[in-house]
Amino acid sequence: MNKVYKAVVVGMGKRGKHHALAFKNNPRFELAAICTRDRSKLERAAAELGNPRTSTDPLGIAREVRADVFCFCTPPAVRLDLIKIGIASGAKLIAYEKPIALSMNEAIEIRELVNRAGIKTVVSHQHRYGRHYRKVKEMIDSGALGRIHTVYGHAVGWMMHLFTHLVDYMRWYNGNAEAEWVMGQAAGRGKLADNHPSPDHIAGLIQFGNGVRGMIETGAGAPDVPEVEYWWRKCRIGAQGPEGFAEVLTGCGWRSVTRDGAHSGEGCMNYDLDMPPYVNDMADWLDDDSKIHPCNGESAHKGFEITMAVLRSVIERGQIRLPLGPGEPELEALGRILPDRPVLLSIEANRKEYS
Ligand SMILES: NC(=O)c1ccc[n+]([C@@H]2O[C@H](COP(=O)([O-])OP(=O)(O)OC[C@H]3O[C@@H](n4cnc5c(N)ncnc54)[C@H](O)[C@@H]3O)[C@@H](O)[C@H]2O)c1
Repeated sequence: MNKVYKAVVVGMGKRGKHHALAFKNNPRFELAAICTRDRSKLERAAAELGNPRTSTDPLGIAREVRADVFCFCTPPAVRLDLIKIGIASGAKLIAYEKPIALSMNEAIEIRELVNRAGIKTVVSHQHRYGRHYRKVKEMIDSGALGRIHTVYGHAVGWMMHLFTHLVDYMRWYNGNAEAEWVMGQAAGRGKLADNHPSPDHIAGLIQFGNGVRGMIETGAGAPDVPEVEYWWRKCRIGAQGPEGFAEVLTGCGWRSVTRDGAHSGEGCMNYDLDMPPYVNDMADWLDDDSKIHPCNGESAHKGFEITMAVLRSVIERGQIRLPLGPGEPELEALGRILPDRPVLLSIEANRKEYS
């Protein structure tokens, strides 16, 4: 019989509840406990989740229930301390939210800690489970586009919300190739003070080791995705080869043009559909070390490194070679050098966020 793994979920906001529900509904897991600092929020969430055990002490409860999975879904500023707690709890796998850190220094420390502890990590870039995302991957793998030479991604939402999502799927569409160097530019200080601190607009070029070019852009000046109405899902990610292109629109299906003609299909980012397989793949990886989770922390680290390299390019100018070592925290450095000029918009609909 398959082992049932015990999961503890910390943080009972939107994403914490998504995760808790997915663990609760999966027969491979027991939602052993939920945890957050706010007691009233905790009790309300427990009632919605079939009354698992509750606590305001993540380490205490994870140890008490002997959690196999320590999951946390907290704002981006809360990462390293909870990684340390996850390791101290004795869990076998830590599942957490993107972005993995707020600086390269923090990401490097997290990677060192989890590698030393021999603990698996999974990061929630779960959009890839959408059928439209997978369809584009299938088309690329089928050879219908020829040998891929370009991958691209853009979104009007800001960097710390969406950049690592885009990079993750671009890397996936490019066979998880490593980046050799990156060059970027940024504008607008408005979102530096957000809890997902970001320049208002940022664009980057990525030279991948396999010769493929990556182009990525997020924020106020990024291109519209007119096919999509819902602002947060105005994201386009795709690949081009000599025989054509295929791309996914987060909020509106997929499309391609190849020698066989123009094709398109349905699909929309949907937590209810994307979370169950994302969580199920954790059980498979816990069962079998060779079944590495598609959203493994090492892959997320590579994507975050590209993200921070674009910021370093803005700060230092010119091309930035990877891998990155420790350095001045990128967002602080950006705050020092970014001119205080209003960001220019690509579409009027961006004004509500980047006024
Ligand atoms: N993967 C996705 O599709 C996706 C979508 C939305 C958000 N996110 C990410 O999920 C994370 C959480 O976002 P959210 O929308 O759930 O936020 P939220 O504000 O709804 O919830 C955050 C929760 O963390 C708790 N918290 C804050 N500090 C804490 C601490 N020190 N210890 C314990 N709990 C603490 C808060 O009380 C709250 O319950 C963010 O990093 C965000 O970028 C990912």
